[in-house]
Amino acid sequence: MAITFNEKTKVFSMHTKNSTWQMQVSKYGHLLHLYYGRKISEGELSYLVRGINRGFSGTPYEAGEDRAYSLDTYPQEYSAFGVGDYREACLCVEHEDGSRAAELLFDSCEICQGKYMLSGLPAVWADKGEAETLKILLKDKASGVEVTLLYGVFEEYDVITRACRIRNGGETEVWLERALSACLDIQRDDLEMITFYGRHTMERLIERGKCRHGKIVADSLRGSSSHQQNPFVILCETGAGEEWGECYGMSLVYSGSFLAVAEVDQLNQTRFVMGIHPQGFRWKLKAGEEFTAPEVIFSFGGSGYGDLSRNLHRLYREHLTRGKYRDKRRPVLLNNWEATEFHFTEEQLLSLAADAKELGVELFVMDDGWFGGRNHDRCGLGDWRANPKKLPKGVKGLAEKIHQLGMEFGIWIEPEMINEDSDLFRTHPDWCLTAPGRTPNRERGQLVLDMSRPEARDYLFDSIGKILRKAKVDYVKWDMNRSLSDVWSGACSAMRQGEIGHRYVLGVYELMERFVSCFPDILWEGCSGGGGRFDAGMLYYMPQIWCSDNTDAIERISIQYGTSFGYPVSSIGAHVSVSPNLQTGRTMPLATRGIVAMAGAFGYELDVRKLNCRERELIREQIRWYKQYQELMLYGDYYRLTKTEENQDFAAWQFVSRNQKLSLASAVCLHARSNPLFGRIRLKGLKEDAWYQVRRERLTDEPGMESEEQEVTMCPGGGLMHAGVNLPVFEKDYESVRFVVEMMEC
Ligand code: DGJ
Repeated sequence: MAITFNEKTKVFSMHTKNSTWQMQVSKYGHLLHLYYGRKISEGELSYLVRGINRGFSGTPYEAGEDRAYSLDTYPQEYSAFGVGDYREACLCVEHEDGSRAAELLFDSCEICQGKYMLSGLPAVWADKGEAETLKILLKDKASGVEVTLLYGVFEEYDVITRACRIRNGGETEVWLERALSACLDIQRDDLEMITFYGRHTMERLIERGKCRHGKIVADSLRGSSSHQQNPFVILCETGAGEEWGECYGMSLVYSGSFLAVAEVDQLNQTRFVMGIHPQGFRWKLKAGEEFTAPEVIFSFGGSGYGDLSRNLHRLYREHLTRGKYRDKRRPVLLNNWEATEFHFTEEQLLSLAADAKELGVELFVMDDGWFGGRNHDRCGLGDWRANPKKLPKGVKGLAEKIHQLGMEFGIWIEPEMINEDSDLFRTHPDWCLTAPGRTPNRERGQLVLDMSRPEARDYLFDSIGKILRKAKVDYVKWDMNRSLSDVWSGACSAMRQGEIGHRYVLGVYELMERFVSCFPDILWEGCSGGGGRFDAGMLYYMPQIWCSDNTDAIERISIQYGTSFGYPVSSIGAHVSVSPNLQTGRTMPLATRGIVAMAGAFGYELDVRKLNCRERELIREQIRWYKQYQELMLYGDYYRLTKTEENQDFAAWQFVSRNQKLSLASAVCLHARSNPLFGRIRLKGLKEDAWYQVRRERLTDEPGMESEEQEVTMCPGGGLMHAGVNLPVFEKDYESVRFVVEMMEC
């Protein structure tokens, strides 16, 4: 049993392969957190909770003169505002009389096989026997408010998930002013918080800071998980790295505004909370109604964040993504966006596709610009019918022609948005988010469709669904190109406007669920101006997400590096684009653009018709190579070999098959030096004693240097991992090299 409850001591224990989580019902009925960390197979850690009478840290009434007992200093399993815990609260309930308080006391518990699911929200899933669930019911006696804490234990993955349901079991209505998902009180003060910050075209850059007295916050108030901060954070002991140090990873399975706070209190204890951002949030619960807070995935790694990432990668691939493409190889695609933007005809698309087919591309994707009057970004969104000037025989006509070429066919959509210059807006001006008496904030010339309205969602399902039913569409890219503002819905009463931000997200999830279940054969790719909604919530619906609108390979190295901490390679949409790059103007060898994009769900995004013979040859070879090693790269174990935030000279990463027989490592020179030092990378994840053959392939697409330089060595795994393999002496910025490492038969 991964989960146990000792009736006598009232201690709950949850064990995974390498971690243990313990909590205890205190003598007064509060649920106290005891421990989360390295596995402790036996024993209970109640002794860890200690108290003395401290000034300005009160005592619950029922504890009488037991002044050492304080909710302000004792570690809590789910913190609530108003009754003497002054640290960051998960729950704040306003009652009908205006009071704000909830004293959550243990009522009952249940342990069962399998994994709980959350209605209307994405969550990690499991079949019976693959996970266990613990449910703990806490009650606030005075109001009848009930909180059910939900825990899912995935032993093999070192993962414990949490979520909660808040029910109004009283007779009068209450308001949730905060309903965060989870709290983790760690009794240590030596932690650092790693966050993934950024901006449009520069997402998920890594940042690290010591948790100090007071709070460190990572959050989004944009209505989506955002480019600016990602809802995945790591708390690690000071100095932790890829292979050393205790680390806690927390990932919110949610795509809206979020809050993650690490707070060090007066006793040097660290509290971490995560959930829906309370700012702008207010949720009414009538008697008997329930609210579900989204899931947080907790993962503990005792030896650095490398293992932590790999555990999450496996969990996401195997228990978060669903559908046909969960384990299936992904087609190599060509997307027309960077080649044509809005300006194309069917004929041009077909000539692009035919050319791409000739190079080995398998899927042609028609991006933005094919519908309504969409010739620029200020019109058309909402009018989901083909523009006959661009597609005379509609999407169906083009789809047929693309299929006749022997390729699959995909389209771009942006369902959640509306342009004022659209028939949809002219018919339903009230379907966008705008506050009465105000003019709304515009972004990219567009407004936000009120996804909390069922009729708007029905319209989207009908109009886009009609196209998907009529035409053979194999792939859909679901884009979302702005942050939410003016969050006010005409469909809701004034008192319920604090619900709209979350109802928007629930509406998006409801619509996505309808689409993915009605069209199970389609490969869905998420997108939000690149990676503005790259979160675990999205991966429940779509197995891959366009990682960034920045396709410059050097910038992508940092973006994909940061993304890999929390998300698997199979989820990272990555394309080879033109050189000089359209975002940065940087000139880059095609070989290097390929090597970087292959650390993801791979494709091309350029006008292939303009390529020269050598480039065409190289692309054919890239595609052949990608297909050969795709399974290893998408579904093998991923290792970061360098720190992009520190190593200015080169970046390197590696894939290892689960049976450790095959591995690929790639390295890119970031900065060539005069009188260069010898570079070396230490491989990871191999079998110590097994012998491997290492083939080093140095690629170039420069005219006159057309041959690949190859070097073959043999070495035991131990040597490759501890001593390393030599990088070539890079002569120029952005050169790249790859190593094919194969276990030798005995
Ligand atoms: C933003 C996406 O990230 C791009 O790839 C492209 O699809 C544009 N939107 C189209 O408007």
